[in-house]
Amino acid sequence: MTDLSVTVAGVRFKNPVIAASGTFGYGGEYGGIIDVSRLGGICTKGLTLNPRPGNGGLRLWETPAGLMNSIGLENPGIAAFIEKELPRMRKLGPVVIANLSGSGIEEYTEGARLLNETSIDMIELNISCPNVKAGGMSFGLDPESAASVVGPVRKAASAKPLMVKLSPNAPDLAAVALACVRAGADALSLVNTFKAMAIDVKNRKPVFDNISAGLSGPAIRPLALRMVWELYAALGAAEGAKAGAAQGARAEGPAKPAVPLVGLGGIARAEDALEFLMAGAAAVQVGSATFAHPAAMIEIIEGIESYMRRKGIEKIGELSLRG
Ligand SMILES: Cc1cc2nc3c(=O)[nH]c(=O)nc-3n(C[C@H](O)[C@H](O)[C@H](O)COP(=O)(O)O)c2cc1C
Repeated sequence: MTDLSVTVAGVRFKNPVIAASGTFGYGGEYGGIIDVSRLGGICTKGLTLNPRPGNGGLRLWETPAGLMNSIGLENPGIAAFIEKELPRMRKLGPVVIANLSGSGIEEYTEGARLLNETSIDMIELNISCPNVKAGGMSFGLDPESAASVVGPVRKAASAKPLMVKLSPNAPDLAAVALACVRAGADALSLVNTFKAMAIDVKNRKPVFDNISAGLSGPAIRPLALRMVWELYAALGAAEGAKAGAAQGARAEGPAKPAVPLVGLGGIARAEDALEFLMAGAAAVQVGSATFAHPAAMIEIIEGIESYMRRKGIEKIGELSLRG
């Protein structure tokens, strides 16, 4: 029997494939195109306390094997999400993950408090958006500022599992991740987009009004995979060292991290998802690939299942190379 289900931060997903924030609307938008109920989970577009119109100017720009975006967290605000989108989303079937953003700690905390009262299954705390001037990624770049948001959000959303979405732009990703875990994160997702830039040479000006934008898609996959691999070892080692010190003995190498990692960045095929699962991710998210090929996630689920059958692997966790 092949069992595709996974449990992340106490939440059961029927398979490990989750639609990434900002690339799948609220799920219903794809209802006429694919069977959305087959997905493991859906992350909403980044939600903020108040509605946001998003950034002006050009918002999307293709690069070789990649996509740059500068959406700027356009969304209807959390109250409108709760009233209009959430009831529709709940009916779709997959696990519902609310991606929470904000420009300051109070805004994040108030948003978390509102979401805590709803039927969502999990919060994904976005401290890694590179496309907003205030808040967003600036919180995810160093350990202290990351903990300064995760702690209050953890308290405000005490009834909900909390996954923190990390930025690949952090100079010391492991230090930020550890700070998030110590501040109460139940899971970590990585990565958000890489800060990048493009110049329109025809018109001799930067493509984006904000100058920089976030790079996603297959171009970032090997970088994101390396980050998942290294973070797994770094978190495991930190916990092993703590346990070793508590027992007065030396730790014997990286342990399995206490918090699961959800890997993403450029996943477009089953083989790509398998790479992340083998690197130690408990589940994966798929973003940009859906734009080019809306059935990508369904094919990834089917591809993972047929790989497991061929190899005689019964559970997703057995795919990991991490022992
Ligand atoms: C158009 C677009 C909008 C996005 N909006 C959000 C967002 O609102 N919140 C968030 O956490 N990530 C957002 N992301 C980042 C994706 O969720 C994902 O982390 C990133 O694109 C890497 O995965 P991919 O290469 O599979 O797209 C967005 C990405 C794209 C391309």
